[in-house]
Amino acid sequence: MTDIADAAVRAEAEAAAPYPIPRESKLDPPPALGRWRARRPLHRIKLWDGREAWAIVGYEEVREVLKNHETFVSSPLAPGYPTLGEADAATKKSLLLTMIDPPLHTQHRGAVLREFTVKAIESLRPDAEAIVDDLIDAMAAMDPPVDLIKVLGAAVPARFTCRLLGVPYSDAEFFQERLTVRFSPNSPAASVYGAEDGLRSYFAELVEDRLTEPRDDLSSRLVSDHVRTGQISPEEAATILHVLLIGGFDTTKQMIALGTLTLMEHPDQLARLKADPSGWRNAVEELLRYITLIQSERRACTADTVVGGQQIRAGEGVLVLLNSANRDASVFDSADSLDLERNAVRHLAFGSGIHQCLGQAVARMLLQLTYPRLFDRFERLRLAVPFDALSFRESSSLFGVDELPVEW
Ligand code: HEM
Repeated sequence: MTDIADAAVRAEAEAAAPYPIPRESKLDPPPALGRWRARRPLHRIKLWDGREAWAIVGYEEVREVLKNHETFVSSPLAPGYPTLGEADAATKKSLLLTMIDPPLHTQHRGAVLREFTVKAIESLRPDAEAIVDDLIDAMAAMDPPVDLIKVLGAAVPARFTCRLLGVPYSDAEFFQERLTVRFSPNSPAASVYGAEDGLRSYFAELVEDRLTEPRDDLSSRLVSDHVRTGQISPEEAATILHVLLIGGFDTTKQMIALGTLTLMEHPDQLARLKADPSGWRNAVEELLRYITLIQSERRACTADTVVGGQQIRAGEGVLVLLNSANRDASVFDSADSLDLERNAVRHLAFGSGIHQCLGQAVARMLLQLTYPRLFDRFERLRLAVPFDALSFRESSSLFGVDELPVEW
């Protein structure tokens, strides 16, 4: 290639593309990401507020950035930190676990780490089974069509998270209302602040309550082992409980809905799973990869560095595209196809590095229980509206569907 042609190709690759990019086929990331990956692992993007940032699209480069938490920090207060809209920018106000860096991050995560080991979560499997069975029984008693998000997707994680934190299930509606406002990309900043304040006060009161009257639950253990000992303040404990709620609610809800939708769209593979239910654990990993619910993570670069042959400067924003990494054909054969029998364990749906999802054992357990029980109970489960009538949430970092009407 001549120098002039080479420069033209580089200029095109470095020209900032508007982001987010609309999807074409709703269960797949935008096809442009595949074209970007084929060209180079990093691409220049322009965000809603006119600022530019780097989109990291290659699998290896995504892992490299997420593992290098010293150079690529999570604090939204760092210069260059990218945001995806007004509502997203407003959530900067409360610095939750995902938005803090070591040493504070190490201390806060460490305060609840042992509650989230596979062993600790698996000990709650009988409770989770009872929750899922109870909700499926209730669904069976309803007249179809029903919104699967409401009757199952939202209810499973809501009940389980309340059980985990030791708060009454009657508070789940209060949580859900505030989280809906907080995560809606169209919420005005003032509503996001209001929703955050409501949750902050709730958890501050919970910590106070457990300080005076400890029980046998996660919130009490956090208070007695870390607040009473002076390692963390009551406000910090409230922030940790707050992030556990946020982390577990909408993510698992959408994964139940979108996983069910994906399975209904692939009846042959679903039939094979029903014939051999030992494949469900593997299938859950592939659904996590294929759907990649958290499409992107944000980081700010704090020191000049090179990733994938591209110079990134201190003060530049970085958007790590998990949805692109999980479709990288150099790691996953026929990456754009759903293959419930493939070994997908290297997927990055739970992130990587020090912020890797703390609740992944919870998510896996709830999904491994919900899908098989749902499809066993409702053999003819199907969409009650045409696929094209579904409305998807694409522009926030959390992908989702607004309603999932089903019948059987
Ligand atoms: C399918 C469901 C889920 C998905 C796809 C998911 C995905 C993720 C991802 C990608 C991150 C990394 C964020 C970052 O690096 O900035 C994360 C962090 C986190 N997740 Fe999940 N998550 C799910 C369910 C859960 C559940 C059920 C809980 C709690 C019970 C939870 C709690 C958390 C917490 C506390 C963090 C922050 C960890 C840290 O910053 O150290 N997640 N999750």
